[in-house]
Amino acid sequence: MCHAQRLAASRRLGWIGSGPAALAAASMLFAPAGATGSAAVQATPRQSAAERAVVAVALQEVPTYARDVAPIVQEKCMECHMENSIAPFPLTTYDEVRRRARAIRSRVEERVMPPWHINRTVGIQQFKNDRGLTDDQIETIVRWVDGGAPFGDETDLPEPREFPDYSRFQLAKVFGEPDLVVKSEPYTLPAVTQDKWFRPVVETGLTEERWVRAIEVKPSFPDGRRIVHHVLTTLIQEEQGLTGLASTAHDVQQSAGLFMEWAVGKVGEIFPEDAGKLMLPGARIGWEVHMHAVGEEIVDDQAELGIWFYPRGYVPRSRTVLRMFDARGASDIDIPPGEVAVTQDFHVLQAPARLENFQPHMHMRGKAMSLEAVYPDGRQEVLSVVDNFQWNWHNNYVYADGYQPLLPAGTTLVITAWHDNTADNPNNPDPEQWVGWGDRTVDEMAHLWVDVTYLEQAEFERLVAEREARTVSESGPSGTR
Ligand code: HEC
Repeated sequence: MCHAQRLAASRRLGWIGSGPAALAAASMLFAPAGATGSAAVQATPRQSAAERAVVAVALQEVPTYARDVAPIVQEKCMECHMENSIAPFPLTTYDEVRRRARAIRSRVEERVMPPWHINRTVGIQQFKNDRGLTDDQIETIVRWVDGGAPFGDETDLPEPREFPDYSRFQLAKVFGEPDLVVKSEPYTLPAVTQDKWFRPVVETGLTEERWVRAIEVKPSFPDGRRIVHHVLTTLIQEEQGLTGLASTAHDVQQSAGLFMEWAVGKVGEIFPEDAGKLMLPGARIGWEVHMHAVGEEIVDDQAELGIWFYPRGYVPRSRTVLRMFDARGASDIDIPPGEVAVTQDFHVLQAPARLENFQPHMHMRGKAMSLEAVYPDGRQEVLSVVDNFQWNWHNNYVYADGYQPLLPAGTTLVITAWHDNTADNPNNPDPEQWVGWGDRTVDEMAHLWVDVTYLEQAEFERLVAEREARTVSESGPSGTR
């Protein structure tokens, strides 16, 4: 095939985009034969897989499984798509991946898999738990499938990935065994049943006040790991005035709230060193364990919560609490049949605050949710948008340290939710049905769960100054004021 033919073929397959890399690749293909002669660009056994990958990109070659696709699947899919994990089929060998190549192509291109549904073009993009694919990775998979899903050269295969021992707490490697372990009550899940949400309340046995520096939830292994999709734990304790909460926030926060949310792929939560959650004597844990049947009875399963405390006497500067920001608006949730409905609500922050995460909650008609800040000086900024919401995935998008929105008192949070009640929504059980607020998954909800660290004014100013000093050299990230 001559260069021009190859370029035409690439175009037909839609490989050549319009970015600078594509232009460079195209101009290489058009260059005189000597310039891209076989000696210069052909792979030789002495080249590393990475070097050959660079050459392959320049030539717009079809990616191979061994060199290009296996490393992506290893890093971004296998954690769930392997034996004793939650996905319905493994993706651990060439045959397993090739057999599902078409489904993989469409799910990856639609950004449904891996489950990471945040909009990558607006708002904050730095997360502690990002498991999404880059644009390049998506393109590699798409081109591999379109090119016939070839295996490639066995010597290019990556080393097998080591997976951790899921029978142990992962944060034990950092902090040693947990200071406190709280188990859910045992539960037996039948072989075949609808999804279950198990909600026991359990004593912690704690007899003193302690500040929490890290938390991890662990389903039992191996059975629990196969059926548990996500776990919410709520801290239930008697409190007056909320010790340690910034004085600016005493009027706005009345309870300790959610303690820790866990979903497959998440390890644990380590709070920034200046913040933590507070547990009081007599604290209890309210569990919500979301389970999905796997065709085999799972007997007496349990989930465990591991808690690591700050040393006795250490008091972090700020206390983090969970808040629910509703988007139900004045007319509540009102979703006519066959329509996409929008609902919006506003929350004024009475105290300066740092938002640690973004976790939209909707049900089967959920389509998108956004969080926007309107600053007291009138500036507006979109902080985060999930534009591809999947109701069976309750992803928690945890902002990376140094990138969390720092918001002055008087900031208005605008939360907007979109529900798709048309037949175009593949999860819609009945587009003929009016839908309102309710607990069942066929009813709707529209709110955000956000871990809020309320700040004293001086502490807020200190953090903003720190952020501004850093951003002088970087182009300004979102939510810096
Ligand atoms: C956090 C866990 C997790 C990760 C990571 C993950 N998957 Fe999945 N995947 C699932 C589960 C659970 C299902 C079945 C339920 C569903 O479709 O949501 C699934 C379903 C699928 C399906 C079938 C969808 C359908 O509708 O038939 C494909 C294809 C798929 N995954 C591919 C991938 C690929 C490719 C990757 C990596 C790029 C990946 N998954 C990463 C958990 C995961």
